[in-house]
Amino acid sequence: MNVIICKDKKAVAKEAYRIVRDRVMNGRAKVLGLPTGTTPEGLYAELVKGYKKGEIDFSDVHTFNLDEYIGLDPKDPQSYRNFMDKHLFDHVNIKKANVDFLDGLTGDIDRECARYEEAIVSLGGIKLQVVGIGRDGHIGFNEPGTSLTSRTHMITLAQSTITDNANLFFGGDEDKVPRWALSMGVGTVLDSDEVLMIAFGANKADAIHGMLEGPITSMNTSSALQLHPNVTVVLDEAAASKLKYRDYYHRIAPGNEEAMLKFLAAARKKAGRR
Ligand code: GLP
Repeated sequence: MNVIICKDKKAVAKEAYRIVRDRVMNGRAKVLGLPTGTTPEGLYAELVKGYKKGEIDFSDVHTFNLDEYIGLDPKDPQSYRNFMDKHLFDHVNIKKANVDFLDGLTGDIDRECARYEEAIVSLGGIKLQVVGIGRDGHIGFNEPGTSLTSRTHMITLAQSTITDNANLFFGGDEDKVPRWALSMGVGTVLDSDEVLMIAFGANKADAIHGMLEGPITSMNTSSALQLHPNVTVVLDEAAASKLKYRDYYHRIAPGNEEAMLKFLAAARKKAGRR
């Protein structure tokens, strides 16, 4: 995994923006997987700014969001769909028909989950999946104990997730947080061509340590990303504070490959190789 450690959360948002813009504009990522939460707010603000400056165009971008609460109408101010409209979709030139979302009010959960998987496949799969991470290591809403091969499914939320999300989005009232959600599975996330994980803050440090340096375990579903060949993790110093190998991550940061190629070219020249 490529690990990029930035000074603060603002720098995390800018770095993540650079990656998303690059993949969208070079045509490699026209199908995006997107997260909600406080973590991507900075990225979405950068994407809106970038769109207004003409740096990024969403006219042929399709999106799938990772998850949605069960029982919330898309128009509900607390729904993830509403969050996405407010922070991104209403401010850029994405076609609303190109936005696919899990329906938290579906009358047939199995069918809705199967529909989502099929819709992703019908567009050729997710090219770039952006994810945040929960304090317990969850990606999407894949709580500890979720199968690492899971597909889109119904999940019962863990208490720490209910507490965190109550504080962030429900005015601290845990009773208002739905106990269930629909979420892409870990296997669904692993099927995307590339994954971009973003995280900041000391409260994510244990989860990040587990994801990068712990064993692969369903007790921290983000650790399954160790099995994915193309993952970039963008962190701030606080989220990276429990990493044992941070010096090494700095060593393999962007620019490293160019340095290696320069070194190799010089060595080949010295050896008389053409
Ligand atoms: C929720 C979402 C996750 C998100 C996590 C972290 O549980 N389902 O996709 O990564 O919260 O949220 P935050 O970014 O607010 O810390």
